[in-house]
Amino acid sequence: MTSKVQNIVLLGIQWGDEGKAKIIDHLAEKADIVVRFQGGNNAGHTIVVGSEKTVLHLIPSGVLHPQTVNVVGNGVVFDMGVFLEEKNKLASRGVHVGPERLKVSELCHVILSYHQLLDRGREKFSTGVKIGTTGRGIGPTYGDKAMRLGVRIGEFRNVKPLKQRLEDTYKEKCLQLKELGVTEVPSFSEIFEKSLEHYEQIKPHLIDTSRYLSEQSANGKRIIFEGAQGTLLDIDYGTYPFVTSSNTSSGFAACGSGVAPSHLHYVLGLTKAYTTRVGAGPFPTECLGADEAIGKEIATKGNEFGSTTGRPRRCGWLDLVALKRAVTLNGCHGLALSKLDILSGFPEVKMATDYVIDGQKTQDFPNFWDREVKAEYQSFKGWPAFSGAARESQLPSELLTFVKAIEDYTKVKVVMISTGQKRDEMVIRDARLN
Ligand code: IMP
Repeated sequence: MTSKVQNIVLLGIQWGDEGKAKIIDHLAEKADIVVRFQGGNNAGHTIVVGSEKTVLHLIPSGVLHPQTVNVVGNGVVFDMGVFLEEKNKLASRGVHVGPERLKVSELCHVILSYHQLLDRGREKFSTGVKIGTTGRGIGPTYGDKAMRLGVRIGEFRNVKPLKQRLEDTYKEKCLQLKELGVTEVPSFSEIFEKSLEHYEQIKPHLIDTSRYLSEQSANGKRIIFEGAQGTLLDIDYGTYPFVTSSNTSSGFAACGSGVAPSHLHYVLGLTKAYTTRVGAGPFPTECLGADEAIGKEIATKGNEFGSTTGRPRRCGWLDLVALKRAVTLNGCHGLALSKLDILSGFPEVKMATDYVIDGQKTQDFPNFWDREVKAEYQSFKGWPAFSGAARESQLPSELLTFVKAIEDYTKVKVVMISTGQKRDEMVIRDARLN
């Protein structure tokens, strides 16, 4: 008999938007707990059940499965207003979102309105590098955490010392905002009173999630660690400075949820059959020039528009050089593939197997992007349209050849193939995940 893996870390291993919510939703069916451990409401996780679409930005993607407990871990930067809005929306649809099944770490750093203003103000002001952030205040909040200027949500329980400390920080932020040309800033009391009001509503959900998760894991409960964004946006290992402000790779699943690394039993890396990226930054396999029409076709068929900002995503071929780097960094035990159906009907599909930098061929993903990086490709015969397969025998043989090439290059087995948007459109090739 095949023994099941207990805890699973699910990560996007490209530049985000790999379709994580659908995989999490699938895994959550057999899970006890789903935990978010980094990022914030810069993420947009879309789940389709029947004809109903749910987009979650902050609440973990397991919430639609009534038997799961959903946890926002300490590594997440937390917008209290967004949490309440999302919670109320779910409640109005009959989803149970009480504190027994929706828990928030009291150590989460809070996103305040000046963080959002600083994020947007900086992007507007900057004459040099423009990251193309989501404008949700993610970078400034993580920045304040590192600068020891941040506020952990649990601190609102003792108003007086917090108010004093935050008032000083506010003054500093106003100076920065003024320099950036942002003059319309809410008053300190407006920010503080609103935050207190939100805190009172969120208080029942606050716990020491580190202790809770460690105990539950020790008791044999299955936990799914839900990554946001993707490995190539990791603040250390991504295409810096065009990255997000958190560590998006597997190592941080432990830090950001407060469990020991020994509780992370299986790392599942998710990639689309092609590549997309929102915002600025390097993208060696982007379909440009002669391939521009292909990129546009992928974008249209794949509905490649940001679920948080609505921005169009840049599209290109699958990049095995980048994928191999992500697989190694995360220690992936298995790979999940999404959106293979979008590539159906193309006469030829391609994946990059090498980069050429300074005339030298390499399979090493660079740490610095100050030289031109040219991708070299292997071509494959395209596959005919298929819809919603749930068994491998229903998949076209050309598609399986493409899948095998990914396995051969990365030396990791493809264990899940998502074949459409709906919940049941999925082929599972490793029974241990069930
Ligand atoms: P920030 O996370 O809002 O600071 O944005 C930094 C970079 O990460 C920008 O290029 C964003 O487009 C990108 N980014 C942030 N969140 C996501 C996501 O969920 N999917 C894809 N890209 C994202």
